[in-house]
Amino acid sequence: MTTKANAPGGTSAAGLRGVAAATSSISDVNGEEGELIYQGYNIHDLAEHSTFEEVIFLLWNKRLPGSSELSELERSIRDAYEVPSEVIALIKQFPREADPIDVLRTAVSALEFYDNDARNLRREVSVKTAIKLTAQFPTLVAAADRIRRGLEPIKPDPNLNIAANFLYQLKGERPSEHDAHIFDVCLILHADHELNASTFTARVVAGTLADMYASVTAAIGALSGPLHGGANTNVMKTLLEIGSSENVEPYIKKALAEKRKIMGFGHAVYRTEDPRATHLRKFSKEMGKAAGDSKWYEMSRKIEEVIMREKGLFPNVDFFSASTYYMMGIPLDLYTPIFAVSRISGWTGHILEQYADNKLIRPRAEYVGGRDVPYVTIDKR
Ligand code: COA
Repeated sequence: MTTKANAPGGTSAAGLRGVAAATSSISDVNGEEGELIYQGYNIHDLAEHSTFEEVIFLLWNKRLPGSSELSELERSIRDAYEVPSEVIALIKQFPREADPIDVLRTAVSALEFYDNDARNLRREVSVKTAIKLTAQFPTLVAAADRIRRGLEPIKPDPNLNIAANFLYQLKGERPSEHDAHIFDVCLILHADHELNASTFTARVVAGTLADMYASVTAAIGALSGPLHGGANTNVMKTLLEIGSSENVEPYIKKALAEKRKIMGFGHAVYRTEDPRATHLRKFSKEMGKAAGDSKWYEMSRKIEEVIMREKGLFPNVDFFSASTYYMMGIPLDLYTPIFAVSRISGWTGHILEQYADNKLIRPRAEYVGGRDVPYVTIDKR
């Protein structure tokens, strides 16, 4: 019998593991070596020397910018920070208890109504749409958080970069240079990760030639799940539930015995340390030290040790980002929207790449249902 799995060129893999579903120059993950590159540049070099804005340019243009190109991009992003007042008014109508990632998804979808160029998919116009989306994600996340707390949104400050402006809009005071820098590097680390679930979603939607707003709205939906971007919030919930270093070992052992997954561990591609976790572990330590409260870092280290011993699993990007954000005073349920504040750069990069050489993404399913089933009319069933 010919199945699609053994038909010429056909393949079938649960969860599409190991299947290359697109060609891309944006980023590559080497799971065996624990390497991540953006357009050829090692993530460690970018984390050490670059800025989020420079990385955005890199993801969209396949090369690092010259200084005037970088200034121009920074200026256009800052000029686009403000979101249409209608969308802020809309957020004010949402239930206070709505999950911030769902608020972001709905608000981003609504942004499309106020962009007359939304349906224009030419590269020059799409880059402008990508700038607007990248500039406005942080504004939406911060505004939605303030609105649910009964506060007025803070106007964006065009003198600040994306990282500092986000923290400013969230808290109403300018962040320290230290926090702004760490947050900037966090944005670099989360910017792109090859064909993860949300990026694949964005490309599938863009592949129908739907506009960028539709594509990233769908991507936010994919990101929101606990097996993807939702893991970081759950990591912090686990830390709080465990509560103390002494409780780590019994808690983790019990959870593993009950076959529960520990959030922030394991990865679909990495078989060794996730290179992003290397930086985030350091930040978690630094943030704890700066605040004079290393409890969450110490507990995280202990969890890491127990899970390595018991299961041989490494922490992923979400594990140490949780305690890093917690020490920055960021509410737990904003961790996933913050992931989106960074990942919008990669999503839009992939959408631009998809538009530039589009082919509708339409895989086949391996049919496992019956065949030639005789139809029985309803009165005989
Ligand atoms: N805690 C406990 N066990 C885990 C685990 C975790 N976080 N992640 C994987 N495992 C175990 C699985 O139970 C399975 O064990 P088994 O072979 O005894 O059944 C084995 O490791 C392989 O796991 P599997 O879920 O098949 O790997 P995957 O490649 O399909 O899944 C993830 C990858 C990320 C979905 C998975 O590791 C996970 O659910 N992690 C927690 C959520 C998370 O942190 N997501 C963020 C990813 S960046």
